[in-house]
Amino acid sequence: MNKKTIGDMCVSGKKVLVRVDFNVPLDDSGKITDDTRIRAALPTINYLVKEGARVILMSHLGRPKGEVVESLRMDPVAERLRELIDTRIVKVDGCIGEIPLEALASTGKGEVLLLENLRFNREEKQNDPEFARQLAEMADIYVNDAFGAAHRAHASTRGVAEFLPGVAGFLLEKEIDMLSGLVNDPNRPFTAIIGGAKISDKIGVLDSLIENVDTLVIGGGMANTFLKAMGYDMKNSLLEPDKINNAGRLISKAEKNNVNMMLPDDLVCAAEVDAGVKSEVVPADGVPDGQMALDIGPRTIEKFKKAVYSSSTVVWNGPMGVFEIEPFARGTLVLAEALSGSEAFTVVGGGDSASAVDKAGAAEQISHVSTGGGASLKFLEGRSLPGIEALQDKEDYNAQAGDGRELENAQNCVPGC
Ligand code: 3PG
Repeated sequence: MNKKTIGDMCVSGKKVLVRVDFNVPLDDSGKITDDTRIRAALPTINYLVKEGARVILMSHLGRPKGEVVESLRMDPVAERLRELIDTRIVKVDGCIGEIPLEALASTGKGEVLLLENLRFNREEKQNDPEFARQLAEMADIYVNDAFGAAHRAHASTRGVAEFLPGVAGFLLEKEIDMLSGLVNDPNRPFTAIIGGAKISDKIGVLDSLIENVDTLVIGGGMANTFLKAMGYDMKNSLLEPDKINNAGRLISKAEKNNVNMMLPDDLVCAAEVDAGVKSEVVPADGVPDGQMALDIGPRTIEKFKKAVYSSSTVVWNGPMGVFEIEPFARGTLVLAEALSGSEAFTVVGGGDSASAVDKAGAAEQISHVSTGGGASLKFLEGRSLPGIEALQDKEDYNAQAGDGRELENAQNCVPGC
C-alpha cells in the first residue's frame, strides 16, 4: 500500500482523531447483534492506547439523515468498547464544539473519547468544510480506519484530511492489501461469485470483473434479470426490467472475453417469501405460474461448488437467495461452507455474505472477510475511494493536508519525531 499508516507516525502523547466504521446492526432493544466491525478496529485502537495517544473515535451509525435519532446514539457501541478495551472510555453526546472539547481536556494519555453519531449532523454527509475543520481542531493527527465508509466523500472520511495529516489505520491497511491482490495479481483460476437482490448497484463491478476473472458466478435475485435476458419467463420473480439490456450486454461481454459466466440451472420457487410456504425445485426456464425464484437449486449448488473447488482465488459478494428465511437459505449456506473448505485464497465482502459465512460457522477458514460492502465493490471495480485518496502517500515525508498544503503541526507528526 502506498499510503502512510499509523505505524509511520509518532503518536505518543498526541491527540489522534480516528474515523472507524461502527455502523453495526442493532436489534429492537438497541443491542448490537454483530460486533465484527468493532472488533476489527481493535488493533488500531489498542495500538494507540498502548502508545499513550489520546484517542478520539468517530463513526456513523445507520442513516439518521442529519437529525438526532435516539435509537441510533453511539451508547451501545461505547458499552461494547468498554467490554473489549482495557482503558477509560468516555462517550459524549456531540461531535464538535464545547461538549467534546471539554471531555477531551479531561481525557488522559491512553484514554478514549467516543463522539456521538456523526450523521446526526447534516454537515457530515455534505462534507461541510467548517464541520470538518471543527472535527479536525480537536486533534494532531487523523487516522482513517473505516474501510466500510471509505467510498463516501464525507466530512469525517475526506474533509478532515484537508486540515490534518491523514494516515491509514491497520484495518484500512489490511483491507487495501487484501483487495489489491485481487485487482492486481490474483492467482488463477480466479472466480467471482456475485449475488444479492439487485443488479443495478453491481453493474460497474460486473463490468470490471469480466475484464479480470476466469469464471463469473451469478446468483441471488439479480440472476433473474440475467435469466430474463436469456429469454426465460421468470413469472413473479424479482427482476429489474430496465436492466435486462445491461444483463444481456454483460452476457455478451463475458463471451467475448472468454469468461465462463455461470447462471442458475435450477431454482427453488414458492408463491410467497414465507418460511411456512410450500416450495419446489424447478429448472431455471420453468418457474411455475404465480411463483417466484427464492434460492438456487441443488444442481446449481453443485455446479457453483465445483467452480469454487477448482479455483485458486475466489471473491464472493451477495447471497444466493433469501437466506434469512430457512427454506431459501441452503444455496447461500452451502456456498459459504464450500469457500471455507477450499484451498483457494478466499475473500468475502458485504454484510449479508459475511453474516452467511458466520452463520455457516465458516468465517475462521475464509482468508479475508471484508468489513466493507459498498466499499469493497467499489474497490474491486477499480475505482479510487475518497477516504483512501485523502490520506498521505508514503513518499510524502512532510506531513501535509489532503490538498497538499503544509500543516502547522507537520514537524510534530513526521516519522522519527
Ligand atoms: C456500510 O454499512 O456499508 C457502511 O457503514 C457505509 O454505510 P452507508 O452505506 O450508510 O454509507
